[in-house]
Amino acid sequence: MFNYMTDNLMEKITSLCKRRGFIFQSSEIYGGLSNSWDYGPLGVELKRNVKNAWWKAVVQRRDDMVGLDAAILMHPKTWEASGHTGSFADILVDCKKCKRRFRKDKIGDTCPDCGSKDFTEGRAFNLMLKTYLGPVEDASALSYLRPETAQGIFVNFTNVLNTARKKLPFGIAQIGKSFRNEVTPGNFTFRTREFEQMEIEYFVDPKDADKFYNYWVEERFNWYLNLGISKKNLRKREHEKDELAHYAKFCTDVEYNFPFGWSELEGIANRADFDLRQHAQFSGQKLTVPDLKENDGYPYIIEPSGGVDRSVLAFLVDAYFEEEVKGETRAVLKLHSDLAPVKVAVLPLLKKNDKIVELAHKIKEDLQKCMVSVYDDTAAIGKLYRRQDEVGTPLCVTVDVQSLEDKQVTVRDRDTMKQDRISVDKLKDYIFNKLYK
Ligand code: GAP
Repeated sequence: MFNYMTDNLMEKITSLCKRRGFIFQSSEIYGGLSNSWDYGPLGVELKRNVKNAWWKAVVQRRDDMVGLDAAILMHPKTWEASGHTGSFADILVDCKKCKRRFRKDKIGDTCPDCGSKDFTEGRAFNLMLKTYLGPVEDASALSYLRPETAQGIFVNFTNVLNTARKKLPFGIAQIGKSFRNEVTPGNFTFRTREFEQMEIEYFVDPKDADKFYNYWVEERFNWYLNLGISKKNLRKREHEKDELAHYAKFCTDVEYNFPFGWSELEGIANRADFDLRQHAQFSGQKLTVPDLKENDGYPYIIEPSGGVDRSVLAFLVDAYFEEEVKGETRAVLKLHSDLAPVKVAVLPLLKKNDKIVELAHKIKEDLQKCMVSVYDDTAAIGKLYRRQDEVGTPLCVTVDVQSLEDKQVTVRDRDTMKQDRISVDKLKDYIFNKLYK
């Protein structure tokens, strides 16, 4: 029997994203740039809502965290100190028979294309994207697009410590673009060469590192659950020693059960004092905490690092449902109301009745002052509901002939399809209660 959940869910999501303006292929009019994606009118709202939910949870609602927005281009020495020029590489091999190139760790000893076991020696391929700053393309102008936002935080450690006057434990959070010349991008927006990260560097007394590592694993796992990801689709997975990045002592991934398998949404790592010691050595600057007596004054760092694009994709996949309603299939995105791109749609039942249209516009304009609201009269009501269901709008307000007399409107709930009759002057309170209770 056909099962939309397992059979072609990714195709449904990519098609919905394009059809309804969530995500488009980059440079499509030129045939598209593969593995590069643009967020459309609804996608940009969803993505912004994901970032805002994260920022609120990890910066604005906490006293031990501050934010930062560092530049993408950094001093090239940063990448020597961080270990990225030396160790941030995939090992590539070429099949001698069919001449195709593969990541060695992905294929074992047999060519997945032709079955040959005859490969060239492995060569390290650095994943950092290079560029040249200024008009002369020589070694002195060589620079890199950052492969992680984290380093912008480490090099600003003393600036933040001195200006924000924080004491251990405290953290610095940042959202921003990162770039990696991935050898095997794919799975829609899951692995791309340009992507956005949401990263926290949390500085602790080394003796408290285990406690805060466990704390952040739980905290970050629960963030996804609180925003509606179903428990059965989320798990934690601790890294084996041989998977750890060059800087990490321990790492736990939060994984989501995508249609293409369990895959990483976020990693929570114990980076110990690796980064601050490296930058102190390479820059000659002091990057210690004055009142920390142990470990030469170097704190340990717990790093929860997630991907914005991967989170958006997981929220979309998890929210997508198809249901039978009166013999028809209803596609609905049951997004958490904090994430839904549009919160309320106001729909007139009769678009030829000027008074109804006028009242509907007035209600929409009033709601628009405090939440994303739209007006739509371009189809019959059943179709308007379906359109809003498909993009995840939690509430639809319908204005009808009766509304002109009794000053009441109908509010329809996306998930239950239940309708309530509410007086216009109580509408805002009712909506706030439904969305943000
Ligand atoms: N500072 C630590 C760090 O960058 P990472 O595990 O390499 O750690 C963190 O990356 C997160 O960034 C990942 O969990 C993922 O969500 C996101 N990410 C990494 N590479 C990505 C890519 N090529 N495309 C999309 N997201 C990516």
